[in-house]
Amino acid sequence: MDQPREGPSPKAADRPHPPHDASTPGPSGHHVGPSRDAPTSSEADPKPEPHADQAPVDSGVDAGSASEYDQENSGDHLLEAHNHTDDDNFSDEGYDGSDASSFLSSILSEVRRGVEIEGRQYASYGKHDYGMPMDDKELDRQDLQHHKYNLLLNDKLHVTPIPEERLQESGSRVLDLGTGTGIWAMDMADKYPNAEIIGVDIAPTQPNFVPPNCIFEIDDVEEDWPYRPAHFDFIHGRDLMTAVRDWPKLISQAYTHLKPGGWIQLASTIPGALTDDDTIPPNSGYVESGRLYFEMAEKMGAPLDAPRQWSTQMQDAGFTNVKDVVYKLPMGAWPRSKRLRTVGKLEQVMILDGGFEAYMLRGYTQILGGRVEDLQIVLALARREIKDPNVHTYVQFHVTYGMKPA
Ligand SMILES: C[S@@+](CC[C@H](N)C(=O)[O-])C[C@H]1O[C@@H](n2cnc3c(N)ncnc32)[C@H](O)[C@@H]1O
Repeated sequence: MDQPREGPSPKAADRPHPPHDASTPGPSGHHVGPSRDAPTSSEADPKPEPHADQAPVDSGVDAGSASEYDQENSGDHLLEAHNHTDDDNFSDEGYDGSDASSFLSSILSEVRRGVEIEGRQYASYGKHDYGMPMDDKELDRQDLQHHKYNLLLNDKLHVTPIPEERLQESGSRVLDLGTGTGIWAMDMADKYPNAEIIGVDIAPTQPNFVPPNCIFEIDDVEEDWPYRPAHFDFIHGRDLMTAVRDWPKLISQAYTHLKPGGWIQLASTIPGALTDDDTIPPNSGYVESGRLYFEMAEKMGAPLDAPRQWSTQMQDAGFTNVKDVVYKLPMGAWPRSKRLRTVGKLEQVMILDGGFEAYMLRGYTQILGGRVEDLQIVLALARREIKDPNVHTYVQFHVTYGMKPA
């Protein structure tokens, strides 16, 4: 994978002009030096050139050639299983008040450090507790997810009908909510070098080396946004489950801060194993783990099926051309389509290599009051099913987009 975080680029503080109105104080709006892949000293070469001439970002994942069998995986198509062969085998295995700068650095170090629960690091910033960790293991998981989603969407970064020229124009602005490692924002910045891309997150988990037209900010998207009204051309939010409680407020803020004719896209996996061919075993550990996750999120006030209300909420906020697009996201290397088989393998690795714990550990222990040992038993059963090529499950990846009237 050829990611720009490896290459030199100015630090956020060195960039000429913050693309949002810096005179408008946000609820926080800190630019925080990212914690990941930080340069070892201030030696960074300050002369990067825009990535305008770069080839499109290669996901680095084998999707199969166009001539191979592929299959539509939108919600109303049955997913066909592949005849299992050996080549599919896939194993997992104190602020003391002395001065403003010490105040700021103590807050920044607390934000960077987060809080530790059951051996995983969680963000300490934000109005509500967010359910997922922010440690390196989680960041690797998010990057893997990004490649999986690109493949699922047939190498697209989004599916809104926003005109390409609009994103190519200089002065075009894109906001990525809950940007995580910033990988989507950086890919957008590479693809649209004239656009300004802002990624915002409660956790400082973005790299220092980023395309010059991309910046990251630390902020809570559930608070009032610090940007000017009618400022953005495109607002994007992916996989914000257990991150957002008040979707109508977020959608209405997006409406305010989009320019006329601008687009919003929200996307999220809705956990919960489904099958088209009755291959889920009775007393399934995988189904039980999904049930527990739904219960936990419900108690957090962030129901996992919230995406099913997005289209109504967008229409209520004034958006037009609102559309739901639901994809089937297979678990494991069972689909007949090679592309979807790769998606399924990525989903399998993601879940087997820490994804389950990332989703469930904090909620199960702190919200449902369960014991880690009990959770591990359910997850062990679920893992067995996930590795079984005869169990053909998928979850839904729910995308909703809409346009602010021109
Ligand atoms: C599962 S990750 C998804 C990251 C990214 N959107 C992606 O698809 O690669 C969710 C991200 O939302 C962030 N987050 C959670 N609550 C948030 C909030 N209230 N405001 C801003 N970011 C938030 C988390 O820190 C985490 O980085």
